[in-house]
Amino acid sequence: MYYSLVRKILFQLDAERVHELTLRGLQRMTGTPLAFLLRQSVPTKAVNCMGLSFKNPLGLAAGLDKNGECINILAAMGFGFIEIGTVTPRAQPGNDKPRLFRVSTAEGIINRMGFNNKGVDNLINNVKKAHFSGILGINIGKNKDTPVEQGKDDYLICMDKIYPYAGYIAINISSPNTPELRSLQYGDALDDLLAAIKNKQTELHQQYGKYVPIAVKIAPDLTEEELIQIADTLIRHKIDGVIATNTTLDRSLIQGLPYCEQSGGLSGRPLQLSSTTIIRRLSQELQGRLPIIGVGGIDSLIAAREKIAAGATLIQIYSGLIFHGPKLIKHILADI
Ligand SMILES: Cc1cc2nc3c(=O)[nH]c(=O)nc-3n(C[C@H](O)[C@H](O)[C@H](O)COP(=O)(O)O)c2cc1C
Repeated sequence: MYYSLVRKILFQLDAERVHELTLRGLQRMTGTPLAFLLRQSVPTKAVNCMGLSFKNPLGLAAGLDKNGECINILAAMGFGFIEIGTVTPRAQPGNDKPRLFRVSTAEGIINRMGFNNKGVDNLINNVKKAHFSGILGINIGKNKDTPVEQGKDDYLICMDKIYPYAGYIAINISSPNTPELRSLQYGDALDDLLAAIKNKQTELHQQYGKYVPIAVKIAPDLTEEELIQIADTLIRHKIDGVIATNTTLDRSLIQGLPYCEQSGGLSGRPLQLSSTTIIRRLSQELQGRLPIIGVGGIDSLIAAREKIAAGATLIQIYSGLIFHGPKLIKHILADI
């Protein structure tokens, strides 16, 4: 009831303004007595995945805390793992505003943020200050002004820097908002990228005496053939996990609704079915050889169970948290 009241007020304001206000508010609450307002006790439901032990299977998806500024307070809400980023080697402003739109009647969000972030060094400083006992995923990408042919270098620069601080590393090659980024999902470009990333992981494993798993995040807008090819490439390069899915370019389920024509990636309820379909198909193809982290439109216990039934070992939420508030975490974890 409390969240629906807050939501009514916040949803009157511009979506990105609310996002900024909320993050700043969360940052200020961290470590103060007010933090108890967001603290939730949730049951432990341990899951082993990618060689790591997660205290529960529900995580926060990338993009909400791009700079790792609110790790402690997000953790207090009950997440078993938190994925921060996408971070790039250098700070960048992202696309022009407005770039974030609520499709409220469909419980969807369209964003074309374009990896606005303060750079990898800033993120590491924030991670050093946090005290999260769960698993911290760090999601990495390439700068907009790095030509896609040299995109690989940006991922390797980020890996070098974040490796000692990450529970796992997510390779984002599926955001629709960085020109040509999605081309890295296909053929030789994917082969070449994953070979370099795997080599770098081996080198850093030896250097730090710690194995940090790599998960690749894929788009929902893939043909059957493309999906099979990606699955095959992930297996061949011994990638540790796959995150399915990022936002979609498809607008068929929100035709005629406000903001439908805005460019960018659509998330939330309208993405639910297509992301589950990708997970199911991927699971058939992978046959348990690498685990799937399922994300896309989870807004209830049943939606969470559908992702797991389709083949996901872990799940993540973003838009559901915006529309339903932190109680969604408790609600899902009570009966998952
Ligand atoms: C405003 C916004 C920003 C996002 N930024 C990122 C990002 O930086 N990196 C990333 O991998 N995914 C990003 N995502 C995608 C989410 O992590 C997630 O894959 C997608 O929203 C589907 O989940 P959902 O329906 O629960 O929101 C973003 C999503 C939204 C709504």
